[in-house]
Amino acid sequence: MSTEPSAELLAEGELTVRGRIRDASNAALYCTVSHQGREAACVYKPVAGEQPLWDFPDGTLAQREVAAYEVSEATGWGLVPPTVLRDGPYGEGMCQLWIEAAPEAELLALIDAEEPEPGWKAIGFAEVGEGRTALLVHADDERLRWLAVLDAVINNADRKGGHLLPTAEGRLYGIDHGVTFNVENKLRTLLWGWAGEPLTGEAVDVLEGLKEALGASGALAVRLAGLITAAEIEATRARVDALLATGKHPEPSGEWPAIPWPPV
Ligand SMILES: Nc1ncnc2c1ncn2[C@@H]1O[C@H](COP(=O)(O)OP(=O)(O)O)[C@@H](O)[C@H]1O
Ligand SMILES: [Mg+2]
Repeated sequence: MSTEPSAELLAEGELTVRGRIRDASNAALYCTVSHQGREAACVYKPVAGEQPLWDFPDGTLAQREVAAYEVSEATGWGLVPPTVLRDGPYGEGMCQLWIEAAPEAELLALIDAEEPEPGWKAIGFAEVGEGRTALLVHADDERLRWLAVLDAVINNADRKGGHLLPTAEGRLYGIDHGVTFNVENKLRTLLWGWAGEPLTGEAVDVLEGLKEALGASGALAVRLAGLITAAEIEATRARVDALLATGKHPEPSGEWPAIPWPPV
């Protein structure tokens, strides 16, 4: 269990459903949690509302979301909003702190150029209709770069634009981590801008820390044990080892970078 105060509120608070989130592919409910005079908004995704996925047969998507939070906490980067497993009005599910995103922040753009401007990184060319293509770019932002490392570790199969929540306070959160930790390489993301580039020294230090925490009796390994399978924990260790061995951001395995569809 995390020591983050919001995680305690999420786990212990009384959960009240306020509405259903319309664009969600699985049941996602907008809720409030209240406990000892504190209240927060959260998203609650009951396990009962999950669509079964053939390539994620073990455990639940809710458990994967909590596992992603645990890895994010172990990095110290705080990229995933506090997320817990708990009981709720529709049974067990994941409960995650609601983040008010500041929509004006520009993290992605489509530009009519061959090369990105300084301050931007290229993702790839995209068809934009009438036989025209445009260059899809993301910001050269240290927080996105942290997230690219986290996604490589958790093997995120769905890092799209709508899952990036920048806040007015300058934080950046990633959400929707139900399709993560597969034993096969499924990295599907927009954050390919650093592909093949050396990891920062900071990222290497964080990965060394993860390696230790994922050791047989490491704190993170213990937390993940109740959330994902032993084979998935082993594959997570192997991904950390591979990142440390190459010292580079991962590159797409095919000719085209694997990006989620739709990208936003
Ligand atoms: N923690 C959160 N804070 C703010 N908005 C969220 C949060 N979690 C989900 N949302 C909103 O709800 C939508 C659906 O949630 P998401 O996690 O993407 O569910 P699904 O697995 O169904 O795609 C998101 O696109 C986002 O707009
Ligand atoms: Mg989603």
